[in-house]
Amino acid sequence: MLTATAVRSTVPGAPSLAPGGFGADLLAALGQRPRSISPKYFYDAPGSALFDAICELPEYYPTRTELGILQAHVADMADCIGPGAELIEFGAGSLTKVRWLLDALESPAAFLPIDISGDHLMAAARALQHDHPTLRVFPLVADYTRPFHLPPVALGRRVGFFPGSTLGNFTPAQALYFLRMAARQLVGGGLLLGVDLIKSPEVLHAAYNDAAGVTAAFNLNLLHRANRELGADFAVDQFAHSAFYNAPQRRIEMHLMSRCRQSVTLAGRTFEFAAGETLHTENSHKFTVDGLRDLARQAGFTPGPVWTDPAQWFSLHWLQAPTH
Ligand code: AVJ
Repeated sequence: MLTATAVRSTVPGAPSLAPGGFGADLLAALGQRPRSISPKYFYDAPGSALFDAICELPEYYPTRTELGILQAHVADMADCIGPGAELIEFGAGSLTKVRWLLDALESPAAFLPIDISGDHLMAAARALQHDHPTLRVFPLVADYTRPFHLPPVALGRRVGFFPGSTLGNFTPAQALYFLRMAARQLVGGGLLLGVDLIKSPEVLHAAYNDAAGVTAAFNLNLLHRANRELGADFAVDQFAHSAFYNAPQRRIEMHLMSRCRQSVTLAGRTFEFAAGETLHTENSHKFTVDGLRDLARQAGFTPGPVWTDPAQWFSLHWLQAPTH
């Protein structure tokens, strides 16, 4: 397994305020109103483990629903992808879903999992390489929300895999930007994209407010991470997990809500929180099949087959990339 390394934004013991890093982005978030920060900062090592636990929760339907669709239709998906493909997974995480795809593909040329959570990715890639000894696995530690470079020479038709409805973490404008970037990177190939669908607010609400409190711990871990990595002094027990479905915007919003009036210090600066004031930590947009296909067309893809579960809770889309 060849490993590509990326420059890390933080060095243990040295809180980094490098532009585009956690410290700089959190400082900017605290200094603005409303306060909001990218959900990509959830995924330090403890956050990635908490996310894996979320995927096992009875209330969190997306992971098992998407896996069910994948298992039922993987042969058709493999037909769309074709033989000898170079498969690139965006936000690869623990590499659970892609194993089903890799098993169904005809002689894949290589697999490039990309993730921001370096140690988690490397461990998952090592385990996958162990189970697929002849597959060329090139893990890439990178932030795919910014422009990044794939190896200049593709080993096969480039096909992207972007499951989990992670596209929904982007605003519609950011989603279009990401898809345009992907359409260029995947020229001549395509993208297999999984997105969550609009459904009853009760089901959506429960998925982000599980009884065991794992989603709350995942959300609050952002503040623990700031204390650990940046030397901030968030009183984590004085913040509450808040997640709700914003129906007009078709998205779950997650916030960290201050339980009282309090102040927080980060990098020598002090910030006030009023009681009830929030730090917005995540949007999780929900889609319609037609809405997603429109968005893909705007980005330059040609939408192809769509696979869903019987309840139409989740969808996987084959999107053909431009040919040149
Ligand atoms: C990262 C998109 C898969 O939005 O559902 C799970 C993250 N946040 N519970 C989602 C998440 C809270 C998740 N994805």
